[in-house]
Amino acid sequence: MSFSFLDSSPREESNAEKYTLRERLFGTEDVLPVWVADMDIDTPDFVIDAVKKRLEHPVLGYEDFPKSAFLAQIQWMQKEHGVVFDVEDMFYSHSVVASMNAVIEAFSERGEKVIVQTPVYPPFFHSVSEHKRELLKNPLKRSACGKYSFDIEDLKSKIDEKTKLLLLCSPHNPVGRVWRKEELEEILQICLEHNIVVFSDEIHCDLSYAPNKHIPFASLSDKARDITITALGVGKTFNMAGFAVSSVAIPNKELRDKFAEVYKKIHFAQGSVFGHVGFESAYKNGRAWLGELKVHLRGNYEMLQELCQRFPHALQLTPIEATYLAWLDCRGMGLKDKELRDFFVKEAKLGLNAGLSFGREGSGFMRLNFAVSRVKMSQVIRQLEKALEKRAGK
Ligand SMILES: Cc1ncc(COP(=O)(O)O)c(C=O)c1O
Repeated sequence: MSFSFLDSSPREESNAEKYTLRERLFGTEDVLPVWVADMDIDTPDFVIDAVKKRLEHPVLGYEDFPKSAFLAQIQWMQKEHGVVFDVEDMFYSHSVVASMNAVIEAFSERGEKVIVQTPVYPPFFHSVSEHKRELLKNPLKRSACGKYSFDIEDLKSKIDEKTKLLLLCSPHNPVGRVWRKEELEEILQICLEHNIVVFSDEIHCDLSYAPNKHIPFASLSDKARDITITALGVGKTFNMAGFAVSSVAIPNKELRDKFAEVYKKIHFAQGSVFGHVGFESAYKNGRAWLGELKVHLRGNYEMLQELCQRFPHALQLTPIEATYLAWLDCRGMGLKDKELRDFFVKEAKLGLNAGLSFGREGSGFMRLNFAVSRVKMSQVIRQLEKALEKRAGK
């Protein structure tokens, strides 16, 4: 490997949320934080160098989001994921969640229904409720081996004329699925039949593990392209969440104009000059680094898998196809949700996301972010192993 993921720079001193919020979230600073979805892995040099180079120019006034940056992303999306966007389809956004909120505002009215597929990244359902839209919950199905799938019959039975929008998480956080073409086509068919717009959050698209292949919803067909708003970004892939830069692709002009009305009202503006250059450099230079990052992440996942296999009655690891977020089924431990959290905080001294925060279906589960250096992953494993052994009376 030409990039090393053995160790990483300490983040305690850099105001990293993962660390600063420990006391508030876990009631103690004495936890190794493996919660919020960024990486305890250094942001790659080709991003840092682009920012340093930009700083050689001493004026940091307003700047347009560069066309060259959108083109770099468009080329990446075409080459890596086989979807074609044009520059005029693209909007800058400081946050995928903000884009999702603008979409809810633009494509539904108060009291109308928005579909979310739980368990899911919490802003999906919070955003719907905060806009006073009705949450149409279409929970995912879970098979005996822990694999999740869409519940198409449930979805069909719940949709009515008030249903306007579907928020798709693809790949899915936290269940780690890369949706197959046939699965997405079933969703598409339903949305076409009922005139439902699809907001496809594809922020994790670059983090799928072979042989799983991410299929952009907009790439399914011309009809799919016409009803899809895709959110994309460098935040997860290149550990650039602190840049606050992402994008939205809307090929259909009618949808684009409608979105643009809300977008202008809110004043998304053009983002930071550092975000511009970092974004462009990531897409232009990131392929080799990303390839090696995924090998590293896979290795960390396997370490966790090995540990879970040694304690099968306590932990079942959900099979992962994408993301660096492990969805741990802890129901075998027979603990209530609060006790489960306490076990991780007090016994293992680890700060994970409680499954319940992803919806009721997450009860008994915990989400562990394994995007850390190998040194830190070994520490996570050691601490969890010790706590599990103690619990098992070994
Ligand atoms: C599915 C999903 N969408 C959006 C986000 C957040 O994106 P942003 O920071 O650009 O709002 C996350 C972060 O964890 C995520 O997992």
